[in-house]
Amino acid sequence: MLNKQKVAGVELAYVDQGAGPVVVLVHGFPLDHSMWDAQIAALAGRHRVIAPDLRGFGQSQSIGGVATMQQMADDIAGLLDALAVREPVSFCGLSMGGYVAWQFWARHGARLARLALCDTRAIADTPEAGAGRRKLADQVLSEGPAPVWQAMREKLFAPRTLVEQPAIVAAQERVTLATSAAGIAAALHGMAERPDMTARLAEIDLPTLALVGEHDAISAPAEMRGIAESIRGARLAIIPAAGHMAPLENPAAVTQALAEFLG
Ligand code: MLT
Repeated sequence: MLNKQKVAGVELAYVDQGAGPVVVLVHGFPLDHSMWDAQIAALAGRHRVIAPDLRGFGQSQSIGGVATMQQMADDIAGLLDALAVREPVSFCGLSMGGYVAWQFWARHGARLARLALCDTRAIADTPEAGAGRRKLADQVLSEGPAPVWQAMREKLFAPRTLVEQPAIVAAQERVTLATSAAGIAAALHGMAERPDMTARLAEIDLPTLALVGEHDAISAPAEMRGIAESIRGARLAIIPAAGHMAPLENPAAVTQALAEFLG
């Protein structure tokens, strides 16, 4: 069931399921909380799982402009305040959700117990990549979300997933095409201006898991290994038979890695 809560002037939709230590699951671009459905169902047996739709995505409101990763991190802190969650949480973000996780750590670190970074990057966009995102944002604002799905479809999934699991691909296509153009454009601008966190990884002093699909074409396993090696004590989990959308492509392996990490 989706709940709604106004945070920083924006109505956010979120799942709040189960009881126990709080785990926050944050989706990637241009998707919504439903990419975590398998993990929500499995982890809610022992945890309170909070899975928001970031501003502009899923059933959350979009106010357009630029949705920075810092703003999205503050939105989640505001949501936790509204839900009276005061204890430190385990924060798990995939890709754009990982960009938000870095900012949650930087801005709300005292609220963190553990950090799980899935299929994400610590580096900023190159000037060319940023320009490409801004161009795509303009295109989405004039044509709707279809161009962003065309640009990302092949990169999101392992080649075998595209052939053998068409239902999960089609489900993400539906989510993307139902997303507000303004929300997608705002996040594209926000990702284009996100800070480079590489130099700050050594400061992270929390139990950390880096998780990546073995065929991830956006945040390659070698890059995620570098992230894990830069964070003291971090574990690395490489998920077989999966690309960038590891939690959907190999849900059992991702759930197991997260459950082991969460204890
Ligand atoms: C995501 O899955 O959130 C995106 O691939 C992030 C990005 O485009 O950098």
